[in-house]
Amino acid sequence: MREGFLISIILCLASAVAGHRPIHNVLNYGAMGDGNTDDTQAFLKTWKAACGDHNGSVLLVTGKGTRKYLLGKIEFTGPCLSDVNFQIDGELVAPNKLWTNEIDTWIQFRNVPGISVYGHGSIDGRGFIWWNCLSKNQCRYAPYTMEFMGCNGLKVNGLSFKDSPGKHLVVYKSNDSILTGLHITAPEDSPNTDGILISDSQHVIITQSTIGVGDDCIAIGPRCYDVNVSNINCGPGHGISIGSLGENGAEDIVEHIHVSDCNISNTLTGVRIKTWQGGAGHAKFLSYSNINFNSVRGSIIVLDQYYCPHSTCPNKTGNVAISDVSYKGLHGSSTSDVAIKLACSSSVPCHGITMDEVSFFSTNANHPLLSYCINAVGSSTGNVRPDVPCLQR
Ligand SMILES: *[C@@H]1O[C@H](CO)[C@@H](O)[C@H](O)[C@H]1NC(C)=O
Ligand SMILES: *[C@@H]1O[C@H](CO)[C@@H](O)[C@H](O)[C@H]1NC(C)=O
Ligand SMILES: *[C@@H]1O[C@H](CO)[C@@H](O)[C@H](O)[C@H]1NC(C)=O
Ligand SMILES: *[C@@H]1O[C@H](CO)[C@@H](O)[C@H](O)[C@H]1NC(C)=O
Ligand SMILES: *[C@@H]1O[C@H](CO)[C@@H](O)[C@H](O)[C@H]1NC(C)=O
Repeated sequence: MREGFLISIILCLASAVAGHRPIHNVLNYGAMGDGNTDDTQAFLKTWKAACGDHNGSVLLVTGKGTRKYLLGKIEFTGPCLSDVNFQIDGELVAPNKLWTNEIDTWIQFRNVPGISVYGHGSIDGRGFIWWNCLSKNQCRYAPYTMEFMGCNGLKVNGLSFKDSPGKHLVVYKSNDSILTGLHITAPEDSPNTDGILISDSQHVIITQSTIGVGDDCIAIGPRCYDVNVSNINCGPGHGISIGSLGENGAEDIVEHIHVSDCNISNTLTGVRIKTWQGGAGHAKFLSYSNINFNSVRGSIIVLDQYYCPHSTCPNKTGNVAISDVSYKGLHGSSTSDVAIKLACSSSVPCHGITMDEVSFFSTNANHPLLSYCINAVGSSTGNVRPDVPCLQR
């Protein structure tokens, strides 16, 4: 035991020496970190050096609690000559002005396989001016805070994100990614400020994170396969969602999404799958297990094949088929009437929906909860409250 411990210390020291990575500190490339000077060019110079280093370098942003780096829109592009560790301990702050009127992203990583972005630092999107502008209909879009695209093997670890104008963290076309130890916050009423959005990615792990925002804590979009979400504290926000899928008649496929061991509190919905009428493709092999809910305002479990974020959407035939969805060990409270809502399409009914030990109670003791069910079939076992009559016992 003790020997093993010593050996592991020695191995650890040895690898720290052997794997000594050259450090490129942004302060050595002209960054001021004073919160006022625009450090964008200094970061780009540092990136050029780190990305062009054969030896697996560290791009270092120092100054936890002491330095703020003001960055404009910035794109870190690869591929790099070796893996880059992007360590953020200081704070990154967005411009305090409206800088785009298109769909845009503040900090982008493009085509950098193997990138690891981590540290004790924070990333402040300063979203207030954007939310205000959106609420007055003077802006159409608010930028995302950070986006990864084409970064297979991505790791994002330990960082805090706050007040993004739009979505906080977007992962696109990045297989084998791990997101862990993240802390993401924005006000409950901030529009479209999803915590994490994943799309077009396979073999992704999202774990050990706390997310409270104005939209989905986590959204899993089209063309995702094998995504595991676990140990998440979510709320406020709109819960953990799959979709929306099948927009504008798209054929979308999503498979093997597993959500487990989470707490979801004070959210609009709990776990939701949303698809548009008129879409095609399928969402299947989805599971939700061991999740606690607390004071969810709308339905806790939602299958919504009539997803319509506008006031009305045209009725269309066809939909993304939903099947093989299991709910096991889901418990907690709702403040609304309908705790379980399975609203499936008449043209493509849901099947293989199973519930086992799913029990919800109303925060109002005199007010029993209900379930709603159309075009859904499957089975239920164990205690299921409220009762879901369309599932066979
Ligand atoms: C990589 O490391 C080697 C030896 O440790 C050194 O000679 C070389 O200059 C380094 N290359 C870069 C680009 O830093
Ligand atoms: C991810 O993996 C799938 C399956 O191997 C592959 O088709 C896809 O091109 C990969 N995506 C990227 C961005 O490499
Ligand atoms: C996700 O969990 C499933 C079931 O435990 C496992 O088979 C799969 O390998 C996991 N995927 C990832 C990316 O870890
Ligand atoms: C969920 O809440 C329980 C009880 O408060 C706590 O023990 C558990 O650690 C929480 N889980 C997460 C993922 O934070
Ligand atoms: C769509 O269908 C529903 C139910 O059949 C009906 O109540 C509704 O009026 C229809 N909406 C439109 C826009 O046609």
